[in-house]
Parts: sequence; C-alpha cells; structure tokens
Amino acid sequence: MTIENILSDFNSQFQNIVNKNQLEEIRVNFLGKKSQLNELFLQLKNLSADEKKSFGAKINELRNHITQKIDEQKLFFENQELQEKLSGEKIDITLPVRSQNIGSIHPINRVMYEIYQIFSMQGYEFAKGPEIEDDFHNFTALNMPKDHPARQMQDTFYLQNSELLLRTHTSNTQIRKMLNSKPPLRVGSLGRVFRRDSDQTHTPMFHQFEGFVVDKDITMGHLKATIENFLEEFFAVKNLVIRFRPSFFPFTEPSAEVDINYSIENGKIKIGKGDKFMEILGCGMINRNVLLNCQIDPEQFTGFAFGIGIERLAMLKYGITDLRMFFENDRRFLEHYGFKTKEF
Ligand code: DAH
Repeated sequence: MTIENILSDFNSQFQNIVNKNQLEEIRVNFLGKKSQLNELFLQLKNLSADEKKSFGAKINELRNHITQKIDEQKLFFENQELQEKLSGEKIDITLPVRSQNIGSIHPINRVMYEIYQIFSMQGYEFAKGPEIEDDFHNFTALNMPKDHPARQMQDTFYLQNSELLLRTHTSNTQIRKMLNSKPPLRVGSLGRVFRRDSDQTHTPMFHQFEGFVVDKDITMGHLKATIENFLEEFFAVKNLVIRFRPSFFPFTEPSAEVDINYSIENGKIKIGKGDKFMEILGCGMINRNVLLNCQIDPEQFTGFAFGIGIERLAMLKYGITDLRMFFENDRRFLEHYGFKTKEF
C-alpha cells in the first residue's frame, strides 16, 4: 500500500459520505490503529535515518490532510444538525391571536371616537383643554364677567383655597385655542366637565363635545350645514328634520338650541322619524366680545360654535335609558352596551 493509494482511496470514499456515522467509520479506517496509514508508521522503524526523515514527513502530511478533511466535515455535519434542530423549534408568530373577552369599549368612548372621526374628516383639528381651569378661561373670557347672572346657569365646583375650579363646559378650549393660534381655525374638543348636580338626569361629571370655526365670512348658514351634516352622519339617517330655536348663551350671539325629530316605536326612540322634537345641542355665532377677549378682530373674522352632551347622544343612539348606568360600571351594562375592540 503506497501513500498515493491511501490518498486516492480516502478521497474517493470521502466524497460519498452523507452523515456523521459514515464519517466516523472513515476516520477509524484511515486514522485508527488498524489503518493502513498506521501500518506505514510502523514500517518507519525498519528504515534508515535518511529514509525515515523523508518518508516520515510524507506520511505525516497524509495524516494531517486526512485529519483536516475529517474535522472540517465533522464541523459541517454538526452545524447542519444544529440548523435542523433550530428550525424545528421555531414558533410561528404570524398565527392570529385567539380573541379573548377582556373588557369592552365604553359607549361614551365609542361616541367620542365617532365624533372624532366625523369631524377630523372635515379637517377639524382636535384640542384638549384642562379640566382644572381658572375663572378667566371658563367664564370671564366667554363673556361671563363676575356677577353675571349667566354664571348661575352652571353650578360650579371650586377648589378649596384656590382660584381654580373644575371646568363646567368644554367651551374653555375655545378661549385657550383662540389665544394661542390665529384664524382660520376649525377645532374640535372632547372631554369631561363637572357641575354640582346629581339626580336622575344629571351626574356631577359628564362629557361634552365642543366644535368651533373662526374664519372670514363665516355665517349661520355654515353652522346649520355643519350641525345638520354631523347629526345625519352620527345617527346614520337621511333627511333629519332639525329645528333651530332662538336661545341664549353669553358666548354666542345670536344663539340657538337645536331640536331633532323623533318618534317612539314599540317603546323605542327612532331618530329622524315622526313629528316629535327634542333638544340636542346649543350653538350660535361666537359673540364679538369673546373674539375681542382673544385678540381676534371681529370686523375681520366671524365664527360659530356649538356644544353637545356626549351621554345624551349615546343614550339616543344606543337606547340607554338611565344616565347613571354610564358610571356605575355594572358588568352587565358594560357587556350589553360595550363594544368589542374589533368593532371599535
Ligand atoms: N357651553 C354650553 C354648555 O355647557 C354649551 C354650548 C352652547 C357651547 C352654545 C357652545 C355654544 O359652544 O355655542 O351648556
């Protein structure tokens, strides 16, 4: 057996290896105690010193070559095994989650979200005013100076030992927005308001939506179209009959209250049908004093504003009969009237 024979033998067998076991077999055959290579090593002792040197170097070279090849291949198989193992353990995180019944969207939030959608589609920006407010932004700048009888329309929570109060309406956002930006303005604001009132139809905290527009040549016609469009969208009815009834708010002149038509069918309210009317919101053309208080020139700009109670809208749309149910957090109420996140 010559070195060349062993090498070509090895090379041809090595080519056909497909797994670690075969590799181990070849390792034993070519490097083990009984291998031909080992035989060659044993023959060394019979050679002269010179022959030993050159022949020894050659068989060493052969052994190194075989060892290196086998080690490389072993590493390759080990790596392959690891990859297979890892891919077998992979978790498919693209599977859809199983929907679970954890909580629901409160009808108040649902209504606020719908309002937000309707008005932001029309280019309104949304602003948030503070719930703890000062007298100026909640009253004075809205044309309700101290001792003005209109202040008694809203029974106010005052903070102890402080000039501050809990805002009685979202109209404070009008003042804050007009003071820190310039017309043209189209603004919506949603949030909580507070009044000292508690009975079947009043809770000390409730929610309002305030909308207002200030620009050149804004008229009552714009206001009417805006309200009409909003109510038709919100209640998903066409040809809603709305009635603008003259009213009074210190911050608007002229002012109006808006009624919508409805009827009762099988004990349920149907909006947009019949000839009964109910009041739904307050609105008007922004009083020139309010514009002046906000450093807006009333000769150059006019505007309209309106305010709506969210609870009332939710009661009408979803047939909820008792205002207090919104805040009791009775699970049966939330399960019945709440919305799953998917529907939201
Ligand atoms: N702020 C009024 C309230 O809470 C609602 C309101 C009426 C707002 C007329 C307005 C408006 O912007 O023009 O009762």
